[in-house]
Amino acid sequence: SSNDLKVILEFTVNLARKAGELIIEGSEAIQSAGSTVDEKKNSVDLVTEFDVRVEELVKKEISSTYPNFKFIGEESYAAGARSPLTDDPTYCVDPIDGTTNFVHGFPWVCISLGLIYKKKPVLGVIFNPFMQLLYTGVVGHGSYVSRYGGEPEKLPLTKSLKPLPTLNQALIAIEWGNDRTLDPLTKRSESFHKLAGDPDNGVVGGRMAHSLRSLGSSAMNFAMVAQGGLDIYWEIGCWPWDVCAGMVIAQEAGGLVTGSHAYYEATKDTPAFSEQNEEILTGRKYLVVRAVGDSEKES
Ligand code: IPD
Repeated sequence: SSNDLKVILEFTVNLARKAGELIIEGSEAIQSAGSTVDEKKNSVDLVTEFDVRVEELVKKEISSTYPNFKFIGEESYAAGARSPLTDDPTYCVDPIDGTTNFVHGFPWVCISLGLIYKKKPVLGVIFNPFMQLLYTGVVGHGSYVSRYGGEPEKLPLTKSLKPLPTLNQALIAIEWGNDRTLDPLTKRSESFHKLAGDPDNGVVGGRMAHSLRSLGSSAMNFAMVAQGGLDIYWEIGCWPWDVCAGMVIAQEAGGLVTGSHAYYEATKDTPAFSEQNEEILTGRKYLVVRAVGDSEKES
């Protein structure tokens, strides 16, 4: 019920703040000692002992308060915990979203805590402890940001998420991701090229968007679209924990999330930016987007 969700939201916000303290502590340790950074899949897929420690903290607190809730977490998944998604309430957690930023001291770093119920994301909390930005969303109850320790403000901060008549008025978040093999890299680069390029001066199919940005954290990109600071976030190949909390926050602010069924699946080979995506991106009120495949179009 919505009362249950209110209580769970309070618990989740407190948990995010507690995790935030550990993230700050971790950052200080890493910046001063250059402490342990491991490479997961390749030299750009980074994980630190703090990703693991934050996830352990979160998992422990959840299981002592809500012993029946299931748990999907980035680091547990990496360690082999891959239970199927059920109808049970399930936390979906990225302990440190923006690990590369975290390692480099670039402050777009957050914890992303999503709750899935009956296979749908219903609640999201994103907390960036460096910038003191707290985003919350509960399905049917709107989403909010509290900036620099201030009172919650309703999202979007702009009057509404404006329909974009064309892509060339958009500020678009894109990401490089950490799969740098040829095929996804080519799809990404072609999309970037097309989104940014000048159609009147040599770039065939160019949309000449205002510009492209990479915050380096999927959850932060979602949050910025929800806030109204970005018009679109487009990425190939996110994981469930990257998008779960952000989806609720962006949708509650009036955003559209597409290709989203993949939130509980492993990374899919989604196609690059296409005409079909553009149709979804323009002429609509809501603009948070991931790549969609032919069979993946959602309303
Ligand atoms: C990554 C970040 C990055 C995005 C990747 C994510 P992590 O999460 O959100 O911006 O491009 O797809 O996996 O590894 O920092 O938790």
